[in-house]
Amino acid sequence: MSTTISVIGVGYLGAVHAASMAELGHDVIGLDVDADRVAALNDGRAPFHEPGFEQILRRGLQADRLRFTTDYADLADVEVHFLGLGTPQRTDGNGADLSYLRAAADSLREVLPARGGAPTLVVGKSTVPVGTARTLAEQLGAVQGVHLIWNPEFLREGFAVKDTLAPDRLVYGVADPEDHEATEAAAGRLDAVYAQILERGTTRLVMGFEAAELVKASANAFLATKISFINAISEICEATGADVTDVARAIGMDDRIGPKFLRAGVGFGGGCLPKDIRAFMASAEDLGVGESLAFLREVDAINGRRRTRVVELAVELLGAETTSGLRGRRITVLGAAFKPDSDDVRDSPALEVACRLREAGAQVRITDPEALAGAARRAPGLETEQDTDQALRGAELVLLLTEWGQYKELDPARTRELVEVPRIIDGRNVLEPRQWREAGWEFRALGRP
Ligand SMILES: NC(=O)c1ccc[n+]([C@@H]2O[C@H](COP(=O)([O-])OP(=O)(O)OC[C@H]3O[C@@H](n4cnc5c(N)ncnc54)[C@H](O)[C@@H]3O)[C@@H](O)[C@H]2O)c1
Repeated sequence: MSTTISVIGVGYLGAVHAASMAELGHDVIGLDVDADRVAALNDGRAPFHEPGFEQILRRGLQADRLRFTTDYADLADVEVHFLGLGTPQRTDGNGADLSYLRAAADSLREVLPARGGAPTLVVGKSTVPVGTARTLAEQLGAVQGVHLIWNPEFLREGFAVKDTLAPDRLVYGVADPEDHEATEAAAGRLDAVYAQILERGTTRLVMGFEAAELVKASANAFLATKISFINAISEICEATGADVTDVARAIGMDDRIGPKFLRAGVGFGGGCLPKDIRAFMASAEDLGVGESLAFLREVDAINGRRRTRVVELAVELLGAETTSGLRGRRITVLGAAFKPDSDDVRDSPALEVACRLREAGAQVRITDPEALAGAARRAPGLETEQDTDQALRGAELVLLLTEWGQYKELDPARTRELVEVPRIIDGRNVLEPRQWREAGWEFRALGRP
């Protein structure tokens, strides 16, 4: 059965969600305040790189099940509204900036009465500090017939379509899980939207608002901690001559630990993990239990130190004493996105390292298959080069900082022909050191001898 759906805020999360809901057969309208983004989406052009997204976007548009608008008045008849607004880090501290979510909720509240009390469901998907859903529920619940469910999103950029259409689990946060009647009425409406996903046996977990908000914050805190854990071990390896990839491989075989998120390297970035762990810490402080998450400060610090370590290695490899010795040296950075298969450069380790080297006076050239436009917007003045061979030409030092498939597959002998001096730092531990050394490269990696 098809439902009329809106998705408010069609960024990485919202645009994929809107197209995915159309793919499930619903009648979907995406809304954003960014008119250029809305125009691109209505033209079937993806405003960001996400595998498989453009196909489902076009399919939805062609089937007349999907369209985009900037006008809240177009949402008057919608039965289920999803909130996909950004919740970035505040500029004045660690907490989340909820102003976009609040502004959208205010605009939505204006159009909700148009349904004259007919059941309307609002579903929050953004990542928010604990307590946000309850406040919003009070604000929106004042409108007759409106209910709120907090349904955090766990998609990974690069796998966003698959993760939206085939999630590991669905979490429904409700005002009062003990109020079975109200819960079932609201959850039943969301079940109808996700019917095809639920029919495949996907687990749906119903809990209170606060637990649902904490599921998302805790999941990201755990993942960030796992990455920083292996990066801390990487620092110990550097002090002892051990190889962190040996350690990670062996501990990952213990199924209580598992191999995922154990790749030591230049650390995490993007629009989620860094701001989410900081917002989680700020939230704990506000709740008077700051000590409980004090360890996340160290998780964040370890992550930041890995970026510094790459700069130190560059100084060392180029035979300089300090960063001032980098002046005029030609450095090529492979990768600008925070991870492969994405063009997202928000808090990207690769981009930050490139910028730091350039600030030190190095002649930095950065390349990336998808993220150069974003990199140029964020770091104007940084020399960008789309073609990998061209980017490598004449380099005195190469840094691999985003593990795109094509960089992992670089042939050391052929690459040597392009550069001026064969020196490379593998910031993601994806290259085979022996192969590169045998081809004449001075090879360094994080946490490896
Ligand atoms: N990107 C991810 O991989 C991911 C994964 C899981 C959860 N999340 C969470 O999802 C939320 C959105 O993240 P994102 O990466 O899509 O952010 P984004 O910045 O790409 O998208 C947010 C969109 O909201 C729009 N917007 C701002 N104010 C608006 C308003 N008043 N009305 C309508 N639209 C408005 C912006 O123009 C923008 O297009 C965040 O809370 C994030 O933490 C993101």
